[in-house]
Amino acid sequence: MESCLKAKILALLRKKLEEDGELKEAYVSGQDMCEQFQVTRAAVWKAIKQLQKEGYAIEAVPNRGYRLIPSEEIYGRNELSSRIHTNWAGKELEFYDSISSTNIRAKEAGEAGAAHGMLFVADKQTLGRGRRGREWSSPSGANIYMSLLIRPDIMPDKISMLTLVMGYAVTEAIRHITKEEAYIKWPNDVIMKEKKVCGILTELSAERDYVHYVVMGVGINVKNQEFQADIVTKATSIEAACGSKVSRSVLIQEILSEFEKAYDNFCSTEDLSNMIEAYNHRLVNMDKQVKVLDPKGEFYGIARGITANGELIVEKEDGFFVDVYAGEVSVRGTEGYL
Ligand code: BTN
Repeated sequence: MESCLKAKILALLRKKLEEDGELKEAYVSGQDMCEQFQVTRAAVWKAIKQLQKEGYAIEAVPNRGYRLIPSEEIYGRNELSSRIHTNWAGKELEFYDSISSTNIRAKEAGEAGAAHGMLFVADKQTLGRGRRGREWSSPSGANIYMSLLIRPDIMPDKISMLTLVMGYAVTEAIRHITKEEAYIKWPNDVIMKEKKVCGILTELSAERDYVHYVVMGVGINVKNQEFQADIVTKATSIEAACGSKVSRSVLIQEILSEFEKAYDNFCSTEDLSNMIEAYNHRLVNMDKQVKVLDPKGEFYGIARGITANGELIVEKEDGFFVDVYAGEVSVRGTEGYL
């Protein structure tokens, strides 16, 4: 409750600042806060004090009220909560300065009955994992590591489509915020300047015909400028790609609102039929040569977009079309990663 009040106060002060533009006018009176949030003056004062302790520059002036002074990004629970205005995605959230892995935490919470839409965010992971059990480098102060817990009322065989929904949402959010191009490398990666900036790890707990919960883990390189030798040709960060500063909180806020829209749309048909065209516009391999790494044998072809079930349509060299299912294969460019 206390933390909720802090987030509400922060949201109000930020809104005032954005509306009024003029910093010197951006005061909100203590009385207004008390009335709006139905709390005492003492509760407002306590919340303001705690926010200041967390690093927010909030000025208190007698007879005028409080105003937020813009400062360096603060990344934490209140900052995120004050920004997320979705109906369900991320409405409840946990934030960790350091954790083993947000996917591990989200699975624990999923087992314990946590609600649909709960979000887990960390500044640093000590056991970050990517697909196929690979390590996911997760230093502090640089990137987004988050996992969204969802409880879709659909059959387990449809869950892999959610990775495409999330990839699309991340791509849209990056485009809105940076005004730069971002693409999807089907099915799990988001690409800027021909390098990977984001990977998605979707994990499922289900019975044969019932989904208990899904954890959608999203790792985004936001600020780092240097990469390990083994990935330097394949990976970049959003800031390195667009050359300007990006707030992790603003990006998370935008991803959740894009994901919520796309997910609700997906649930209305239980497939991707409403987003095929938009998705194909963002597909980095669209109409390009790809190599399909199928365990039954590699083959080459041209990517022709996705089906309503999220498979990649590949036109083979012999002119036949095959629908490639994400769970079974990887797709590469003919020269390498893209
Ligand atoms: C990939 O291999 O491309 C997927 C990477 C997914 C990384 C994210 S970071 C947040 C969440 N926690 C993890 O341990 N992994 C996912």
